[in-house]
Amino acid sequence: MMPKPNKHDELRLLVNSRHPIITVETAEEERFELLLMELAAELAVPLYEWSVTKGLSKYHGAAIYNTEQPEQALANIPLIQGDAIFLLKDFARYCDNDRICRRLRDLAEKFRTVRRAIVISAASLELPAELTSEAAPFQLGLPTAEELLPGVKRVLAETNREQHIPVSLDVAGMSQVARNLCGLSEEEAIRTLRMCILSRGKADAGLLDDVLDAKRQALKSDGLIETVRRDASFGDVAGLKRLREWIAKRKSALTPEGQRFGLVPPKGILITGVQGCGKSLAARAVAGEWGFELARLDAGALYDKFVGESEKKLHKALELAQKLAPMVLWIDEIEKAFASAGSSGDADAGLSQRLLATLLTWMQDRESGVFLAATSNNITVLPPEMMRKGRFDEIFFVDLPDAEVRAALFQLHLKKRGRDVTAFDLARLATGSAGFSGAEIEQVIVAGLYSAFAQKQQLTTDVLLSEIRATQPLSVTRAEEVESIRQWAKTRAAPAD
Ligand SMILES: Nc1ncnc2c1ncn2[C@@H]1O[C@H](COP(=O)(O)OP(=O)(O)O)[C@@H](O)[C@H]1O
Ligand SMILES: [Mg+2]
Repeated sequence: MMPKPNKHDELRLLVNSRHPIITVETAEEERFELLLMELAAELAVPLYEWSVTKGLSKYHGAAIYNTEQPEQALANIPLIQGDAIFLLKDFARYCDNDRICRRLRDLAEKFRTVRRAIVISAASLELPAELTSEAAPFQLGLPTAEELLPGVKRVLAETNREQHIPVSLDVAGMSQVARNLCGLSEEEAIRTLRMCILSRGKADAGLLDDVLDAKRQALKSDGLIETVRRDASFGDVAGLKRLREWIAKRKSALTPEGQRFGLVPPKGILITGVQGCGKSLAARAVAGEWGFELARLDAGALYDKFVGESEKKLHKALELAQKLAPMVLWIDEIEKAFASAGSSGDADAGLSQRLLATLLTWMQDRESGVFLAATSNNITVLPPEMMRKGRFDEIFFVDLPDAEVRAALFQLHLKKRGRDVTAFDLARLATGSAGFSGAEIEQVIVAGLYSAFAQKQQLTTDVLLSEIRATQPLSVTRAEEVESIRQWAKTRAAPAD
């Protein structure tokens, strides 16, 4: 859905702009080699490779004698004249050596004048500081749906041929399978798909959901982030009209057409307001509305008892979110994670300051494709940095529902429980439940059903009205608190309704 920057173009740009050293951190060495090979062919630049087992050679050619040692390999590079790309596999680990580091820097200096580049690849890569300034990192990223499609077709053909598994998916279905596998590396994607096909015994439309479920399973991390089945859309939400319009409008900014037109993809919203009025529901509904993957970040789980772990965990979780893109990252009651960052006296203040910094940096720098939907019951305790302009596209305030929305709430939740709404006097219910939140209205219906069932009668308007009378809504029992939240938000947030 999101137009990803073309990796081929990106790499070409790095080589053409005469970066002497390019580093690539990837577990998908083969995929990267293929990309590099294609590029070298296109640019008509000879490609060389080096590994500690084979030494230096022309790509897939015979090795130059006695070049297995890293320093020997570097000594041989100046002897190869003209344009060239040298792929040095796993070379970063030798760069701590002073002589090797020095040699690389000398080479880099000369490389600036011709189109020569040293490409260092490894699954995990760290260069000494002197070299980092010379090196341009290239992010291979995860394969796009387009890149995964040939593999998907191959697996379908293979399982059909070898295990006689029938394939009833059409071309569009296959593309969707590829899209559903996005977020995995190529190898993981192929493995996941094969497993799904074999356990399903056929490759039909049902495979699409199997693949999604398997991917969620595969991407499960240490519990900080959890993918959630999309179970709500705005059809399940009463009121919040302006919030819904805002979300509906932004959908087009996430399409390739919208982006070509120049629409800026939205980054996120913060929904605050009175308890039980649909903040969490609305945050979840965004994913349903856009057809995005939905994942929840558990703010409470951030506080690990092992110091230092929390930041790493948050990093990992945010990385994972990026893998699931396009997706909605839902952080419910965000104040739980970052509230104490504001008060310096708190014991956790240091940690939550750092967590906050991590999140804010990510919000600033991340690629598009992850939409943050955060909710907060009390944003007065959130650190001011979080609220600054530009962090969230909009801060919405969800207020107690007015009479019209209350009627809609009764309608929605009665319908959900299989009742014929025309048999109820919605206007009277709406008037009677002034000051009730959505959650309280739902509770009135739940309680009403119990009462009616116990009295062996049908659920009626009168049964509901007597439940309403028996309920003390939060807006009454905690009037002051609710009023202060409303006053606060009036000047600082956009009304959701
Ligand atoms: N505007 C609404 N539309 C539909 N249902 C609502 C609404 N507000 C609350 N509810 C019902 O109350 C439940 C709790 O609401 P929730 O979203 O958790 O409130 P909040 O996060 O604002 O405290 C929801 O799951 C839903 O069933
Ligand atoms: Mg909530």
